[in-house]
Amino acid sequence: VPSTLPLLDGRTLPALGFGLYKVPADETPAVVAAALEAGYTLVDGAEFYGNEREVGEAVRRAVDAGLDRSSLTVTSKFWGEESQSADAVRASFAASEAALGSPIDVYMIHWPRPARGQFVDVWRELVALQGEGRIRSIGVSNFTEQHIRRLIDETGVVPVVNQVESHPWLPQHELRAFHAEHGIVTQAWSPLGRSRVLHDPTIGRIAAAHGVSPAQAIIRWHLQLGGACIPKSTHPHRLRENLDVEGFRLSDDDMAAIAALETGERTGTHPDDRQ
Ligand code: A2P
Repeated sequence: VPSTLPLLDGRTLPALGFGLYKVPADETPAVVAAALEAGYTLVDGAEFYGNEREVGEAVRRAVDAGLDRSSLTVTSKFWGEESQSADAVRASFAASEAALGSPIDVYMIHWPRPARGQFVDVWRELVALQGEGRIRSIGVSNFTEQHIRRLIDETGVVPVVNQVESHPWLPQHELRAFHAEHGIVTQAWSPLGRSRVLHDPTIGRIAAAHGVSPAQAIIRWHLQLGGACIPKSTHPHRLRENLDVEGFRLSDDDMAAIAALETGERTGTHPDDRQ
């Protein structure tokens, strides 16, 4: 499987990244340092995660110690719960930029919040910030096909990535096909189903047959689907384990057996439900 995926804007996205949701701010410096040490080349952050200052500091420390910043993709997302005005987007972005350094590699709209009816305006602001050289690539998160169609119809600018909940119980096959048709990368959050899918007996059987852990089998499944994913762990041995997925290949039968696990069960929120 490729280690990076091509983006519509000519850049690339590491297929495997490190997710920072729910990593407590006081643990973040050590966890990010361990992830960079292990070889992760993407760290997925967001304003909402409350740990961006610590992420920025950990990245700066690693760069001071010799890490090539250009080998790293740092991402953030606009939360927009209080306001989605242009000023709110700019203020929120500026805070992330101050924490992470400029330019931000990938900046996304965290949720479409469709009831607000403002995500197209927010998108226009991201396009403008990219034009100002403050964001390299712009994307979305938790968007449905319908939301993305609106962005394309009304602005002509296609997001390079849509980060959505996906794991073997929620494979998102239709959304993935829509993304593929438009050249959008599917990046999975909660790729291990918040660890619950790790206990699935089919996953256990497939993992054992390949001599790998359930987490490794699931991550390999994401990559063989052609998508990106951002597993997280606060344990250094697990975050190293999750990066070590090149030594085996799931067969067509394995992929079919995992496809049969679809229940549609979410561990998180539906895109239409967050206001
Ligand atoms: P921990 O941080 O204690 O290691 P997801 O990325 O789907 O949200 O899942 C994250 C959850 O899965 C976390 O609770 C994390 O726990 C756990 N996890 C991550 N990697 C592994 C692994 N290799 N083996 C077991 N549990 C893991």
